[in-house]
Amino acid sequence: MNQSNKSVRVSVLVSGGGSNLQSIIDHVENGSLPQVRIVQVISSNENAFALERAKKSGIKGIAIGKEQWPEENKRNQVLLSTLKEEDTDLIVLAGYMSILSPELIQSYPNQIINIHPSLIPKFCGKGFFGKRVHRAVIESGEKESGATVHFVDEGVDTGKIILQESVPVLEGDTADTLAERVLSVEHQILPKAIKMFCDGTIV
Ligand code: GRF
Repeated sequence: MNQSNKSVRVSVLVSGGGSNLQSIIDHVENGSLPQVRIVQVISSNENAFALERAKKSGIKGIAIGKEQWPEENKRNQVLLSTLKEEDTDLIVLAGYMSILSPELIQSYPNQIINIHPSLIPKFCGKGFFGKRVHRAVIESGEKESGATVHFVDEGVDTGKIILQESVPVLEGDTADTLAERVLSVEHQILPKAIKMFCDGTIV
């Protein structure tokens, strides 16, 4: 599928600081993602700084989390209908800390991508999120780590890999210093994977 002439409507799902969201916004604003239109930012956490970033760039931001919708089925329905209302072509999970429902995943086959802060298949799956990933990498004595962009399927971090890039693990690294090095790679490969989706060049 080559979508290069058509605008690609992207919904970005977040839960935290939103530095990956910012990187996507910056790439759209500097013309590197000409097809992309970020139609909304949806946060599982109403206090996420990512929502501030969306607001600052004039992008619609919505909180759909446990505070707003305590009942899981209802929350999942609201999320799905919010994505559909905006005719979403691509869902980008950028530090999104909730699990998507099977119904949502089935509604968007090969249209949901996630960024994970390790070299999948290493240090991924259940329990590997946030700083835990980097702590586990350091404790296991690995010499390199990195980031992976992959399609989302019904497993946890099991979908087809789109892009990966490695960084060295340095002597004396802490979870914080390694996270920072990995994050700078995330900020490059996530927009690159979005561009590949728009150009229809994911193999
Ligand atoms: C990133 O490391 C991402 O890979 C992980 O959570 C972090 C989110 O960072 N899933 P940010 O909110 O984009 O700054």
